[in-house]
Amino acid sequence: MATEAVSVISQPVRPAEEQDELAHVFSVYTICSTIWLVFATAVGVLIAFKLVYPELATSSSLAFGRLRPIHTNDTFYAWASPALIGLALYIAAKSSGVRLYSVKLAWVTLALLNIAAIIGTVALELGYNNGAQEYREWAWWVRVILAAGLVTAAWNMIVTVARREGKDIYLSNWYTIGGTLWTIIIVGVTLVPWYQYGLGQVAVQGYYMHNAVGMWFTPLSLGVFYYALPKVMNRPIYSYSLGIFAFWTNLAFYPLLGAHHFLFSPLPWWLQTTAIVASVAMLVPVWGGSANYLLTMRGRPERLNRTSAMFILVGVLGYLLGSTQGTVEAFRSLQEVWHFTNYTVGHSHLTMYGFVTFAIWGGIYALLPRATGKEPNNLLMGIHFWLATVGMVVYVTALSIGGTIQGLDWIHKAPFIQSVVDMGPYWLWRSIGGSLMFLSHLVFAWNVWVMTYKRPSIVGQRPSPVVVGA
Ligand code: HEM
Repeated sequence: MATEAVSVISQPVRPAEEQDELAHVFSVYTICSTIWLVFATAVGVLIAFKLVYPELATSSSLAFGRLRPIHTNDTFYAWASPALIGLALYIAAKSSGVRLYSVKLAWVTLALLNIAAIIGTVALELGYNNGAQEYREWAWWVRVILAAGLVTAAWNMIVTVARREGKDIYLSNWYTIGGTLWTIIIVGVTLVPWYQYGLGQVAVQGYYMHNAVGMWFTPLSLGVFYYALPKVMNRPIYSYSLGIFAFWTNLAFYPLLGAHHFLFSPLPWWLQTTAIVASVAMLVPVWGGSANYLLTMRGRPERLNRTSAMFILVGVLGYLLGSTQGTVEAFRSLQEVWHFTNYTVGHSHLTMYGFVTFAIWGGIYALLPRATGKEPNNLLMGIHFWLATVGMVVYVTALSIGGTIQGLDWIHKAPFIQSVVDMGPYWLWRSIGGSLMFLSHLVFAWNVWVMTYKRPSIVGQRPSPVVVGA
């Protein structure tokens, strides 16, 4: 089984023209998504400070209610999604040892995703949204544009992998193609109008909001780990079979757990209990997958010193801790305390930031220099890493403690304003952590520029993408 993983490390060198076009696609996807990361998290910092200083930026266009969905939708669909698709297209071609099926289609995908993000953002800013349906606040027709982007991306990945040189489909492609196909179904389900009201809407919302994370960002990020990790560790993945096992168990359990967002709601009790059982079952793919990555890293401390490996390590730990925390949060006894509190916002950032965003960074730092032949400055990568890691730890710790106090205040029937006063210091710490995270994104943006189109300085550059033979 390990032969497939070995084959991914040493692919034949492709013609220079193909290397260049793939590097170009990968670079432009990364640049576009990085611009959105900076924008969306600048908005995140602003709304974080608004909770500490309510007098800050009080015009209606800067209202919390408008900016929050801009932050969440843009981090999801304008930062993480195109960044992961860029990585997935690169991995599909490289791991299959063939040319990307269609560069034109890759541009169409990127254009669709960006058009959806621009229209969605402007519409939210003007006050048009799809009601309180989290992560699908964009109008339905904007989500159709997003879905079209996913369909074109899936087609490009599938045909590229179908033309592969060997017999086996490399593990990463199972995750990236599977994740994209599942997401087309999930987005499609939320576009069907007939049950978008009453309790049906609640059930669909739980299904959508959690599967957007679990069947989209999770499999794509895991697919990136399976390709980037053998590269940076210079050894095959610990167990190919364990990776396949985690893939199928993720598919078996994840789609059933969305209703754990609506415990104690009027949804049928059995549906809530099913969601709790599925949340516990998720420990199987999460611990199996995490063990696979950690065992691949074991015994190579000198390789872990590389900054790209450090990003991947934090990403794997974010996956392990964040997902295990999700299982624990799903128990009714703990939901009683944490439901509706800022504890959940801490959990969202441990997973979407500590896992998904770090996975993207690990993948980009590991693979983009191989594609373009341009290395970023090691010190600046380190600064990015530490600002982001320390910022995230401060952010998540503050909200975990504050959110627990908030929940206990409500249980003890303290006046509501008491819970707001108690959150004050924790919101301030969250803003400080968030500011560090934001600074790290500026450093990352510079590093992306260096890895792509900045004119190379003489020192420290790889000779050419063709020689690298990534
Ligand atoms: C500088 C970095 C960031 C800052 C300062 C920040 C700040 C915030 C703030 C203030 C909220 C609103 C919380 C509330 O309603 O009380 C929020 C929500 C959220 N953010 Fe971020 N964020 C950052 C990065 C990210 C990234 C990179 C992602 C995803 C890739 C992300 C995903 C989310 C999600 C999913 C929510 C909704 C949380 C929930 O309701 O559970 N954030 N963020």
